[in-house]
This record gives sequence, C-alpha cells and structure tokens, in this order.
Amino acid sequence: MKIAFRAVACILWMAWCAPLPNFAAVKDTAGFSHNVVVSVDPIASQVGMEILKRGGNAVDAAVATGFALAVTHPAAGNLGGGGFMLIYLAGKDGRLTSVDYREKAPEKSTPTMFLTNGEVDAKKSDIGYLVIGVPGTVRGFWEAWKRHGKLEWKTLVEPAMKLARDGFVVDEVLSRSLKEQARVMQEYKEFGRIYRKPDGAPYQPGDTMKLPDLAWTLQQIHDRGADGFYKGEVAKKLVAGIQAGGGIMTLKDLENYDAKVRTPLRSTYRGYEIVGMPPSSSGGTTTIQILNLLEGYDLSAMKRRDAKTIHLLAETMRIGFYNRAKYLGDTDFVKVDLPRLTSKEFIKPFREKISLERALKSSLLGADIITRGEGTETTHFSVVDADGNCVSNTYTLEQSYGGRVIAPGTGFLLNNEMHDFNISPGVTDTKGLIGTKPNLIEPGKRMLSAMSPIIVLKDGKPLLITGSPGGRTIINTVVQIIVNVLDFKMDIQAAIDEPRVHHQWMPDTLTMESKLADLQPALEAMGHNVRTGGAQGDAHSVLIKDGIKYPGVDHRIRGGAAGY
Ligand code: DON
Repeated sequence: MKIAFRAVACILWMAWCAPLPNFAAVKDTAGFSHNVVVSVDPIASQVGMEILKRGGNAVDAAVATGFALAVTHPAAGNLGGGGFMLIYLAGKDGRLTSVDYREKAPEKSTPTMFLTNGEVDAKKSDIGYLVIGVPGTVRGFWEAWKRHGKLEWKTLVEPAMKLARDGFVVDEVLSRSLKEQARVMQEYKEFGRIYRKPDGAPYQPGDTMKLPDLAWTLQQIHDRGADGFYKGEVAKKLVAGIQAGGGIMTLKDLENYDAKVRTPLRSTYRGYEIVGMPPSSSGGTTTIQILNLLEGYDLSAMKRRDAKTIHLLAETMRIGFYNRAKYLGDTDFVKVDLPRLTSKEFIKPFREKISLERALKSSLLGADIITRGEGTETTHFSVVDADGNCVSNTYTLEQSYGGRVIAPGTGFLLNNEMHDFNISPGVTDTKGLIGTKPNLIEPGKRMLSAMSPIIVLKDGKPLLITGSPGGRTIINTVVQIIVNVLDFKMDIQAAIDEPRVHHQWMPDTLTMESKLADLQPALEAMGHNVRTGGAQGDAHSVLIKDGIKYPGVDHRIRGGAAGY
C-alpha cells in the first residue's frame, strides 16, 4: 500500500505541488557570442563562466558548475549521486562522446533486498541507508576532465570548496525547500545538523550557509582527485556512516566504482540529428522512439496549444514508455538491441495503433507490465564554449536531497537511486510496481535512468543542447523542447516556457501544466484521463544560431545564465 502511495504521489507531484513563479513572463535573454553556462542556480552558472574566462573549455566549466551545484543546490547537485555527461568536441569533424556516471548496486545487493515476506517494504526502499547506490559523480567528472579538460583539476574544484568553506547566501528557493524537509530532518539527524543553522533554526533567505564538512570532502577531492573520494579518509567515513545505519556499501564497492565512456546514440528527426545517452539511461532510446513516431505527422501544420497536438504527443509518449518498460536495462548486464529499438522500422507498426481522434488504452498496449513513479528532483545544465565545445549534463540524487543520509564527517548527501531498479522481481501490478527482467537488481549493475541530456545537430554542428529533471517526465520534456524549436519554430526561451505535458503509459494518465487547463475537456472527450497543474521539468538549455549562443533559462525553480 505504501509503495502504491509513493508511486502515485510521485506522478501526482506535478499536479499538486505548490504554485511556482510565473515563468512564462520572463523574456528571452540576449545571446552570447563566446561562452554560455545555464543552470538552475545563478551562482553555479557564474562559477562555470569564471572557468571559461580563465581559459577552460566546456568540460572544465561543466565540472566546476557540477561541483558548485553540489554546494549551492543540495536537493540535486551532488557528490553522492550520479548522472550523465554528453559532450560535443568541436574540431574539423566534431566528435561526440559521453560519460555514464550512473550509480551502481553494491556487491552485497540482491534482487529481493527490498522485499519483506515477499512484499515491497517501503521502509527499506524509499529513503535511508539501504537504498544508496555507489556514487558516480566524482569519478564521472574526473573521467570527463582527464580526457577532455584543459585547466588543472584543482582549479575546477576550488570554487565549490570556497563556497562551502566561506559560505554563500541562502535564497528564498533554498530556504523554502529545506523547510519542507523539517520532518525528515528529525529522523535523519546528520541531514538536520548540516542543513539547519548551528542553533538548530531553519535557514532563512539572506542567511549565509557554511558547510565545513563538505568543504573538507571537497578539499580531499581537490588535493587527490577522484581517489580523494573513492579511497582514503572520505571513503572510510562514508562506509562507516552507511554501515552504522544498516547499509551494505563497502570500501571495495567504492574502490571498484568506474564511470563508463559510452558512444552516444544517434538518430535523425526531419533532417536534424538527435544525439542522446544509451543505457544505463533510457533517455536517448525513448526520446528517439517518440520522435520517430512523431516524424510520421506534419506537426508544423498543427497548432501547438491544441487538443489534437497534445493528444498526438500523449499517444507517442505512451508507446515510447511502454517499450522503455519492456526492453531497457543496463547493457553491461542485459542484452538490448539498441539499433533495432531506435530504428524507423521498429516504430512503424506502433504508429498504426495511433488514432488521431481517440486515446489508446495503455492496458491494451501491454497488459503485462506496469511502471512505477520516480522522485522529484534532479538538475540539468548546459555549457557551450567559444570554440563550440558543448556539454549537456544531467545528474541527480534521485529524490530531493536523495536518501537524506549524510555519513558523519563527510557533509554530502547520498542518493536513494537503488529504487530506480525494478525491486519486485516478476511482480507487476496496477498500483505501480514493475518486475520485468532487464532492470532487476544485480551487484555492480546500474539502475535504469530517465535522464536525457540531448544535443541536436544541424549539418553536423550543434544547434540545441537540452535536458531536464523530472523523473520520467524528463524524456517528454526534452521531446517537447525539440518539437517546439524544430517544428513550431519557437525561440529557445519560448520553447522552454511553453507549458508541458506528460504521459508515461502507466498509470494511464495525461498530466499537463496548468496553462493547458482549457484543453482538458476536449482531451477527456478523446478518452484521456487528465490531471492539470504544477510544473514539469527544469530544462536549462542553449540554442546556437549563427554562432550566437542563446540561453533558454527555465524559471520553474529558479535558473540563471552566465555568458559573454
Ligand atoms: O534517473 C532517473 O531517472 C531518476 N532517478 C531521476 C529522478 C528525477 O529526475 C527526479 N527529478 N526531478
């Protein structure tokens, strides 16, 4: 029952969360001719920009921005989580590469570790010590920097270290977000100790937040590189804290963690090239599938805010998510035929199932498998440098503030990513559980992610760098940004501001941002179960036109671009 609640609560988060700032009122920002960094947090974007000004490239700036977000945006910026970095390296022929730094299951994990008496045990699988995957962020940043960075490693870690040590000013967004954690801070004491003021009071806007333990951990990473995190004092404190809480991670898990350099997936959409992540992310595959379906329709002849358009988007999303649940898992462990799944041929028979008048029932598309909901906080940032190198990076702790666990002395939050696995083998139900094989827990395996950093190329050159948080909504957010730009010819800020919709096959529900509320009756008449309200995603993007880099700042949370 608890699991069902959690799944449904996650899906309904969009519909019921508190009202957010009026993002649509924000005007398009001017473009920059040299460099740009766009992220959820203006301080972190500025950190990235300073690195670019000092001669760093997009990868250097991305690493520095990522470390800074671990300080200033603790809900999702992280050292204790994982993610994906998609990279375009400018040059005569341009080159695409990526780093998969998704967390891994500890060696002692088992497929049934979250079950008690055969039932999913929410106490074990929601937050806390058992649900922590082996963190990937520091190793991922290290691998990206080692291969492609220009500046010294220390230079990239230093700004974050200073922010943690000397402090930064808490804004309204962070203050409110931490206050929402008050109840859980009572149980997870170290989380409460670190993220309340020394006198135990909550941080207010305008207060300075200093994070000495985090500064110490960053110092180890600064001095010793990734080994400063995965071996030595940080690793010892981390493992001691996790094991004291009943977790299973070991020093060996940390020492063995590797980030994988992967060849990005590539496909086409109306003459543009779509580049995304292969598994362990489902992002590239599912985005490509949805776009392959949409290619069969002349979207540019349709009105963007129209029930027919939203219906078509929902139908293609439904199919993409059905295939996601059916086929995808970590390809280091399970066989996934990616060329077939991303081919135009594969999708054709599915297009025949789409009616332009009537919603398909998800239960008819695949009665056997049902998906569960995911967390509500991740963060994406995009960087383009003066040479044309681009980074599209999404990383996460899974839920806001992850599993709420901080190992004493380390000062950083740990992820609760293990529940992105299918935690109930063979058991699927209508309440949100999925038990299909490709994404079952195995030691050392990476849990399937929806994170979708994307780069769109035109004539071989980057045009659009995008991505978003939002659990499964991520994929649909990036699909809509792509069609907003390519089909509906919106400028990047309009494409980001445009209200979004989401359908993930199961539950069979279409969620829409509230600006689309007037379309609800028409969509219901077509057979959709519609929920309206809340905000979807936070997609900090860049559009490059004639060499000018236009930031698309998403103001659904906060957002800031820095450039010149
Ligand atoms: O990797 C995933 O798909 C999820 N852990 C991401 C969670 C997420 O995006 C929550 N964010 N808003």
